Amino acid sequence: MNVVILAAGMGKRMQSDLPKVLHALAGKPLLSHVIDTARSLSPSRICVIYGHGGDAVPSRLAADDLRFVIQQPQLGTGHAVMQAVPELSDDEPTLVLYGDVPLTSAATLTSLAEQAGSDKLAVLTVNLADPTGYGRIVRENARIVRIVEQKDASAAERSINEVNTGILIAPTKALKAWLSSLSNDNAQQEYYLTDIIAMAVRDGVPVESAQPAYVWETLGVNSKVQLAELERIHQRNIADALLEQGVTLADPARLDVRGTLVCGRDVEIDVGCVFEGRVELADGVKVGAHCVIRNATVLQRAAIKPFCHIDEATVGAESQIGPYARLRPGTVLGGDVHIGNFVEVKNGSFGAHSKANHLAYVGDATVGSRVNIGAGTITCNYDGANKHRTIIEDDAFIGSDSQLVAPVTVGKGATLGAGTTLTKDAPAGALTVSRARQVSIAGWQRPVKQKKQD
Ligand code: UD1
Ligand code: CA
Repeated sequence: MNVVILAAGMGKRMQSDLPKVLHALAGKPLLSHVIDTARSLSPSRICVIYGHGGDAVPSRLAADDLRFVIQQPQLGTGHAVMQAVPELSDDEPTLVLYGDVPLTSAATLTSLAEQAGSDKLAVLTVNLADPTGYGRIVRENARIVRIVEQKDASAAERSINEVNTGILIAPTKALKAWLSSLSNDNAQQEYYLTDIIAMAVRDGVPVESAQPAYVWETLGVNSKVQLAELERIHQRNIADALLEQGVTLADPARLDVRGTLVCGRDVEIDVGCVFEGRVELADGVKVGAHCVIRNATVLQRAAIKPFCHIDEATVGAESQIGPYARLRPGTVLGGDVHIGNFVEVKNGSFGAHSKANHLAYVGDATVGSRVNIGAGTITCNYDGANKHRTIIEDDAFIGSDSQLVAPVTVGKGATLGAGTTLTKDAPAGALTVSRARQVSIAGWQRPVKQKKQD
């Protein structure tokens, strides 16, 4: 099939400079949701009609399989589809989607396409208790005969509850002929795509309909209120799917997945967590409250305690992270690693059983196994111009409040005394300390406050 996505409208009620279809739902532009669903139908082409916001839409979403066609000015939904006409192959039907209706399922569109076959027109409709604002589906003897817009409808027509979702599929050759004879002689002086329904009936082309599994599949975004409502619906659907799989969610209403979250068995997630990009939580992983985890893999039975920020990192099996830990891109932790509160790791690896339990910065470092990094330790990885690496070999013990001035290596089994500023390699197995020797001065007198003179 051909797919045409209408995305030229301005979205005035969003009160934003950003074109409406670029506003994010679950971290992804509204239009990208529609494009991804369209792609899942394997169409031969996808044509996006844009207009408002200049080149923002094509420049943000450009891809090899998309054709962007400008509609300027915007004279209605029929006029929008007209812009796509040169792009559409006559041999296959054309599916029209809206760029601001993000949650339509592929299954619903497939059933609509089945209704249409190759030579019929099919419209996706829903019954609404309050149909105000929508185009109404007018039927005679149960067959659809036309669609009338709210502003053009008679009182009797306004009482019809079955509405046009806007999504339809039509035989392309006939569609092109109908589009060329549209007029804008109506209440809004627009070229209505919906006028093609009566033309099909006139030409003896059967008009069918299909209904979505859920009404929210057809809801559009016109305001931030509606965007927030759809975000909640979408997140609740994701949460329900995780629950179905056996994931324990402390509260399915307090989870945000902005991407793909893959969970093993017996995963537990506390409230307020945000998952972005692709995150994998292996069997038995526990994530505490209020963690933000992005593009990360957490292996078996690791525990992420509350308030952690993890970005492009791998956490080994049985490891314990946080509370209040930050794992930055390039962090790779082995099994049973402990990264505690206010510890930041960047572009660094930790071997199995190593620990940095409190207040440390470990950047551009290769840390071996069974290493203990004391509180307040800092790898001085940046000299103001270049980054350098710190290597800490197996079984080393880094005393608290040490600075490791990279490039530098701490040998296997070495001990650094607390407060060491390490500027040269520390040999394996030895104690290295760099601090002034402690002195005590007996009989020293504290200064006393002088009396004030008037
Ligand atoms: C349209 C339908 C109405 C349906 C409703 C569902 C027509 C005439 N009416 O009405 O029957 O119940 O959708 O929401 O089709 N757009 C363009 N270019 C334009 C005009 C619109 O790209 O010139 C895009 C908009 O960005 C939007 C979609 O088409 O994504 C629908 O436009 P909108 O103005 O919201 O249509 P409605 O008047 O609500
Ligand atoms: Ca609308």
